Amino acid sequence: MANDGVVLVTGAGFRSAEGSNDTENIYTSRFYKPNIGACVALEVAMTGRSVVIASSSEAKLSRVRQSILDMCGTATVSTAPVDLSDPSSVQRMVDDLPEGKHVDVVHSAGLGAANYKIPDDNPYLPVERTPIGFPTQEFDAVVTTLLLLVQKVIPRVAEQERTRLIVVGSMSGIRAYPFGYSHASAKAGLHHAVRTLALELNQRGIHVTEVNPGVVDTGLYDNPAVAQASAAASKAFGYTFEGDRIPQMPPREVGRAIAYALNSEAHVLTINLVPFGQEPHTGS
Ligand SMILES: NC(=O)c1ccc[n+]([C@@H]2O[C@H](COP(=O)([O-])OP(=O)(O)OC[C@H]3O[C@@H](n4cnc5c(N)ncnc54)[C@H](OP(=O)(O)O)[C@@H]3O)[C@@H](O)[C@H]2O)c1
Repeated sequence: MANDGVVLVTGAGFRSAEGSNDTENIYTSRFYKPNIGACVALEVAMTGRSVVIASSSEAKLSRVRQSILDMCGTATVSTAPVDLSDPSSVQRMVDDLPEGKHVDVVHSAGLGAANYKIPDDNPYLPVERTPIGFPTQEFDAVVTTLLLLVQKVIPRVAEQERTRLIVVGSMSGIRAYPFGYSHASAKAGLHHAVRTLALELNQRGIHVTEVNPGVVDTGLYDNPAVAQASAAASKAFGYTFEGDRIPQMPPREVGRAIAYALNSEAHVLTINLVPFGQEPHTGS
């Protein structure tokens, strides 16, 4: 464990609902839903580790930072606005990490507002309505950004003992389902990218963990189109839900799983977690 080091967390942000105001805490206000990266940052900060949070919006990052400090006065949090699809921007982010400190990395960027626009924000589309560019766009959002990040981070951590690289994948990467042509194929690509890294980097002291969540309550599923499409996919496996709303788990559970993997004295390889009530199969 490297308590005096920093943990770089990509993809920290939140969604806000109408009626929100920007003095409220994103973790406790009913008008906000923190995403997975924001919850990873909170849980890791609460274990006493310093965190650097990265996403495209400085304004959002500042809100996440302030909200963590409100929850945990002793936390050390700094912000790193970045475009994870741009090599020079990623290089700057890595160069700006505190000098002389041990660095661990959590990659949780994905379908952010910055890089991926789909009707109704719904990634679960019937095959005839899946725009031709979506699979590669989504692939780029997760696989290409990870490649860039890893290429830039490797020289920085090369001399470190025991670096952790934790990637937020998805249950969609290890099991297919109807309406998943774009989403499941991109996440399956990510799954194999992460497995490749795990094998390639292990003997260089970089220990890779894959964390695969099922449905997480980050606000994505508040949209009726997303709720209905995901419930319809579950029906294919015999699952039905009250009001056609698929069960969701709190994003802090994903944050806790990642904080555990970061602080464990074991090399945690994979964590799969789904909300109670969502289908638990790990292949399809
Ligand atoms: N929510 C779920 O139910 C669920 C379940 C399983 C897996 N996952 C996966 O877990 C990951 C995180 O999910 P989430 O729900 O927390 O996602 P999210 O709310 O869509 O957040 C994605 C984050 O990535 C950032 N990002 C995207 N592209 C970027 C870029 N080019 N440069 C800088 N930042 C960028 C976004 O920043 P900006 O907003 O500033 O653009 C945002 O903070 C995703 O890969 C998602 O597919 C999610």
